[in-house]
Amino acid sequence: MAMKESAFAGNGQEIANPRGLPITSSFAVNPADNITGYKSFKAGSFAFRRDEYFVYVEAPGTVHTMAADGFLRALMRDVAWGFFYGTVNFDPVFGTTNYSGEVDMFMGAMNDAYTSAGRDFVERFKADELMSIFKQMVSDWTNEGYDPFAAPMETGVPWGVKNGDNDDAVSRERVTARRMVGLPGDTPVRTDQNGYPVNRMFDDVAQDRPEVHAEPGFEHEVSAFNLFAYLSRSDVTWNPSVCSVVKDSLFCPTSEEYILPVEHGNDRCEWFIQLTDEITWNVKDGLTGRPKAVVNAKAGDVCCMPSDIRHQGFSAKRSMLLVWENGSPKVPELIREGKAPTVAVQF
Ligand SMILES: [Fe+2]
Repeated sequence: MAMKESAFAGNGQEIANPRGLPITSSFAVNPADNITGYKSFKAGSFAFRRDEYFVYVEAPGTVHTMAADGFLRALMRDVAWGFFYGTVNFDPVFGTTNYSGEVDMFMGAMNDAYTSAGRDFVERFKADELMSIFKQMVSDWTNEGYDPFAAPMETGVPWGVKNGDNDDAVSRERVTARRMVGLPGDTPVRTDQNGYPVNRMFDDVAQDRPEVHAEPGFEHEVSAFNLFAYLSRSDVTWNPSVCSVVKDSLFCPTSEEYILPVEHGNDRCEWFIQLTDEITWNVKDGLTGRPKAVVNAKAGDVCCMPSDIRHQGFSAKRSMLLVWENGSPKVPELIREGKAPTVAVQF
């Protein structure tokens, strides 16, 4: 559920454009509303505004309403993940699909009812240009004391008219280790000293560190860290982060509480290893949104999400999840061309 940083820039390979859409480059940031105090935004034919409770996304012929908390949590992930891979459905109607450098933004394009009625709408943007608008939006629409990355019981509320900001919280980015957490020059392990106390639900997680006894001359080539301790100190939820990299094999562990704020539409297979507690996954068809399965993953369970689905997780207690994926940017095109399977295993 996460890419290496280089994937955002397109990796120098041709950018896929299955819908054959031209790039839209018109953007606007409008002054704060006299009543709510919030700015409004335009990206191509899409217009975004919020008030005390709701966000309104306008596209030609339609206005889509979302609760402000759900929208901000989803927007926060889309921003911090650099549009992620595959599709980020903010809800069953609105979302973005990432093509590594360019992004399709859609209304209803992944929704059976919209597409069958011909009401779906899609525009394509340069990823960095749309990202700039999204960053300004999450900054302006997040009030003081509210953290859209945090579990609901660990933050304030997003409601009301404009009241300060929380830019420290909304400018956090996901961890992207280049080789592995804890290596010299790479992402550091988390400690009380560097601002990552143990989360309230992980008080019982041992905080010892593995002992490493390297052969003389190999001291700089052997490393280890306590992954459970690392995850017990995560300050955010639903933020799969690259913690170890072996070529295109990415381990992206994360801690989860409450609801994954997006329905993630995969463009490749994605392994889930439930390390602690439980997550319930609602799995739907990636294109239509039709329900396909409910997966109850308990500690120790392993499942693999196919490449043609979307999924949303529910975690009643803070839990630890290891997401494992093939991060190669070539995989989605191979699947589209039928050269790679949509499932990881066939029985
Ligand atoms: Fe996913």
